[in-house]
Amino acid sequence: MVEKNRATLGGRLSAVLVAAGSAVGLGNIWRFPYIAGENGGGAFLIIYIGCILLLGIPVLLSEFAIGRHTHKNSVGAYRSLSKPWTPLGYNSVISSLLILGFYFVVSGWTLEYFTTSVSGAIAEFTSSAVNAEKFTAFTTNPLRPIICTILFALLTHIVIALGVQKGIERSSKLLMPVLFVMLIVLAVRSIMMPNGVDGLRFFFSPDFSKVTGKTFLDAMGQAFFSLSIGLGCMITYSSYFNDRTNLQKTAYNVIALDTLVAVLSGMVIFPAVFSVGIEPTAGPSLVFVTLPSIFNTMTFGPLWSALFFLLLILAALTSTISLHEVLTAYLHEERNLSRTKAAWVVTIVTTLLACASSLSLGAWSDFRICGLNLFDSLDFVTANILLPLGGFFTSIFAGWVLNRSILRDEVSDHGSMKCRLFGLLVMLLRYVCPALLLWIFLYNLGLFRL
Ligand code: TRP
Repeated sequence: MVEKNRATLGGRLSAVLVAAGSAVGLGNIWRFPYIAGENGGGAFLIIYIGCILLLGIPVLLSEFAIGRHTHKNSVGAYRSLSKPWTPLGYNSVISSLLILGFYFVVSGWTLEYFTTSVSGAIAEFTSSAVNAEKFTAFTTNPLRPIICTILFALLTHIVIALGVQKGIERSSKLLMPVLFVMLIVLAVRSIMMPNGVDGLRFFFSPDFSKVTGKTFLDAMGQAFFSLSIGLGCMITYSSYFNDRTNLQKTAYNVIALDTLVAVLSGMVIFPAVFSVGIEPTAGPSLVFVTLPSIFNTMTFGPLWSALFFLLLILAALTSTISLHEVLTAYLHEERNLSRTKAAWVVTIVTTLLACASSLSLGAWSDFRICGLNLFDSLDFVTANILLPLGGFFTSIFAGWVLNRSILRDEVSDHGSMKCRLFGLLVMLLRYVCPALLLWIFLYNLGLFRL
């Protein structure tokens, strides 16, 4: 079944690194701390980990099994397993396109903040009010954020153009460990700041009085976004795994790394936030508005700032690569475009969309879709609609439609998995995941509120 010239990845370490590279991104370092901050810190962390265990493991394992069994892109994979389920593959193509439409923009901002740090201009970010003003002035500017967005898209293109094996594997091998070490260094530095311990207390001691139905909703959405699941992204990546890859170990390692990076990010951000007396509920602007002034209270501030934003660039890049690859693999394998041509088409189309969504924060802010500007609606449609929908159908497909022996064969790497665990996996896929996801979906539509 494997196409002759199709690339495969090296050993298990590479599989873990590329999949973790996709999972670890702005979702962990930028999104997780602000969502956790809005939801009371410690209590959110516990619920989030519950979602990772109940939803993350089964859906990730299913995507791995589908990808490695078929060795195809997400559309080809569903088509070859069951024709009526092909639209689920298209959901992954559309969602990846739409996610890149805003992910490239935020990634571009990390480039801007990195250069601001390197040039030393970050020293002018003296208070959160000034920072908010500078952030808004930058993001609403018609030119600068677009240049950053285009640069980031080109950076992604270069890695993709180098090919699956050379590009993705090599860059992940290098970037992931660097990212990890940097986070640990920054966490240690942040905890040593005055009152840093208060931030740790906020993050690790649960305050259940702040928990509402929305906390569960946010935790579930964050778990999906962070693990890159529900969109067939992991199907595309696992289609490059070879038969020696241990799917369960890979999945557990990816989940452990992804969760660890999220927790480490919390340990970088919350102590610092509490040290300079900023509200942890500041929202999406937390990283971009708050951190520069925190870095400025530190000796060698611009250096720490440059390190942090370099880290964000690397994390974002390994995620944009994975989203780009979903689209490139689809065009190359299903539409018969050469890989080079496919990659260019994807880069150009996603960049145009990203430029439009960047402009929607400033010059084009009058253009609204259901009351939201383009940037916010891309975010809303993917995270609140397409992700839960994709996750819902993926678990139904894997639990009810996919031939049981295929699932078992792949997940157990041809027979090594205990029966009881496999039974648990099937039960989660058949009943628990669809029920939980249906709830998220109805809740998002405002039809079923706790
Ligand atoms: N998981 C990445 C992050 O945390 C984002 C991402 C990459 C993603 N590929 C995906 C999200 C596929 C959903 C689906 O930043």
